[in-house]
Amino acid sequence: MNSNSNFPWWKEAVIYQIYPRSFKDSNGDGIGDLQGVIEKLDYLAGTENSLGIDAIWFSPIYPSPMFDFGYDISDYENIDPIFGDMDTFKTLLKECHARNVKLIMDLVVNHTSHLHPWFVESRSSRDNPKRDWYIWKDGKKGKLPNNWVAAFGGSAWEWDEKTESYYYHAFTVEQPDLNWRNPEVKKAIFNMIQFWLDLGVDGFRLDVVNYYFKDAELRNNPRNFFKGLREYERQYHIYDRNRPETHDVLKEFRKLLDSYPGDRMSVGEVYQEPPGTAKLPASFCGNNDELHMAFNFTFLYTKWNPEAFAKVIEEQERELGDIIWPNYTLSNHDQPRHFSRYKKGKSGVQRAKIAAAMLLTLRGTPFLYYGEEIGMESEWIPKKYIQDPLGKRYWPLFVGRDRARQPMCWTNEEYAGFSKVEPWLPISKNKELINVMRQEQEPTSLLSFYKTLIHLRKKEIALRRGSLRLIIKDNPYILGYERIYESEKILVLLNFSDRERRFPPIPNLSLKGKILLSTHRAENTNYELGMIQLYPYEVNILKLE
Ligand code: GLC
Ligand code: CA
Repeated sequence: MNSNSNFPWWKEAVIYQIYPRSFKDSNGDGIGDLQGVIEKLDYLAGTENSLGIDAIWFSPIYPSPMFDFGYDISDYENIDPIFGDMDTFKTLLKECHARNVKLIMDLVVNHTSHLHPWFVESRSSRDNPKRDWYIWKDGKKGKLPNNWVAAFGGSAWEWDEKTESYYYHAFTVEQPDLNWRNPEVKKAIFNMIQFWLDLGVDGFRLDVVNYYFKDAELRNNPRNFFKGLREYERQYHIYDRNRPETHDVLKEFRKLLDSYPGDRMSVGEVYQEPPGTAKLPASFCGNNDELHMAFNFTFLYTKWNPEAFAKVIEEQERELGDIIWPNYTLSNHDQPRHFSRYKKGKSGVQRAKIAAAMLLTLRGTPFLYYGEEIGMESEWIPKKYIQDPLGKRYWPLFVGRDRARQPMCWTNEEYAGFSKVEPWLPISKNKELINVMRQEQEPTSLLSFYKTLIHLRKKEIALRRGSLRLIIKDNPYILGYERIYESEKILVLLNFSDRERRFPPIPNLSLKGKILLSTHRAENTNYELGMIQLYPYEVNILKLE
C-alpha cells in the first residue's frame, strides 16, 4: 500500500478496535492486557494467514481507578498496571510497527478521574492553583447551578462539602470535566499529546470531543418534553455540548499533529442522540483543518433494510463531499454487537457476511470491533456479573454495555483461550462455534470471509480510493453500488433477504465482468449480468469490464 498526500494511510486502512480488558489475558488475572495483545498480533496482521488489519485503536490503557473502565484517567502519561507498563507498551508499539500496523490511542480529555492529582488538588481548596482547572460553582447545597444533567444519570453537578461548591461532570461523579477555557489546561493536555506523539503513536481517537466546551454563562438547556425516558434525553443540549470554542482548539490540535511526520491522524467521537446526522460529526472536521475524521455512528442504529443503509450512505456522501473523508462502524464498546442486532433465526452468519461486505467495500475508513470477525454476540448477562456503571445504575431498564465487552473467544476451552482463570466478564455461551481456532479451519466461516474481504480491499485500489455511486438504493431487498477509480469499476451487490431476488437491468451500467468475490459463485469466473438474480443473502462483488 503506497501512501501519497491525497491518500494518507488512514484513508486506506482497516482500523480494528481493541477493548484491552477483553482481548487476551497473558498473566492469569482474568483481565486482558498488553502482553496478551502482543501474543495475538500475528492473528491481526503480518502473516499470510492474518486478518490483515492496518491499525489498532486501543480503548484507554492509562492508569485509572476504573470507575468507567479506563475512561476515567488518573495519569495521562503511563500505563495501568493491569495492562502492563511503559516497557510493555513500547514493545507493543514496536511489534505493531514491525507488522506495518499503526497504533491509535484513546484520548479522553473532556474529563479526568476524580483521583487524578489535578482534581485532587483542585478540590482541596478554593484558592488552589489548580482550582480553575475544573468547572466549579460556589453555592448552597441543594441549589443547583443550572439544569444540566449527566449523560450517565442525575444532575451534572456534584456538591463538594469541603469547599462548599459544585463541580461539573458530564458523565459519572468520578469523571469531573476539565475546564478547557483555562489556558493551562490546554497546555498540559497538549504537552501530554506530544509525549505520545514523540513515543511514536500514529493517531488518536478523541472521546466525546463535542463536550469539551460548555457555555461560559452556564445557561439552562431548553427542555424537550417529547423525547426520551432518561432525564438526559429530555433536554436540548445546546449549552453543554457543541460549543463553537471547540473548533479553535481542534485547529491547534490539527496543526500539532501535522507538525509530526508520518500522517498522524485523529478521529473524534461526536456524541449525538441516535440515530444522528452526518452533518454534526463532519462539522468537527472543519474545512479539513480540524479532525481528520469524526465517527458516523448511524449504522449502529440502522435496521436490517437496504434502503435504510442506502439513505445513511447517501447522506454521508452528500454531507462530507470531497473535503471530508467518510467512515463506517457497525459495532463498538458502547453498543450491542451488530451480529445480535441483525440476526434472525438461523441467518446470523449470512447477515453478518452481508454487513461485513458492505462495511469493507464502502468509500471510507471501516472501523471493526474486536470479535465481530467471528460473529461474537451480545448476550444476556445476569445482574450479578454486571460491571458497567451504567448497567448497575439502570438495570433492568438498561442493562448497560458489558454485553459488548465479553472476552474474545480464541478457542473452545473453558475460558475460550482468553484466560486460564474466570475472566472479569462471563465467557460467551456459544464459544464452541464462535471461536478463532475453529473458524480459521473453516473456509466458509465468517472469519475466513472477513480475511478474504480485507485482502480484496488491499488488492483493489478502487475499493480503497474509488468514488461511490449508489445504483440500487430503493429496493427493499438489494443494495447495489459501484466503486470507480480511473478506468476501474467494481460493482457490489448485496441481497439482504432470505429469498432469491431479481431485478431488471440498470440503465448506464455495463453488466459484463468478472466475479471477485461471491458467497455463492465461483470466483474469477466471467459473468454477464442480464436479468440480475441473486441467491438468498448473496454477496457478489464484480469487476466490470
Ligand atoms: C464515550 C466512551 C464511553 C465512555 C464515555 C465517557 O462515550 O465511548 O465508553 O463511557 O465517553 O468517557
Ligand atoms: Ca491480565
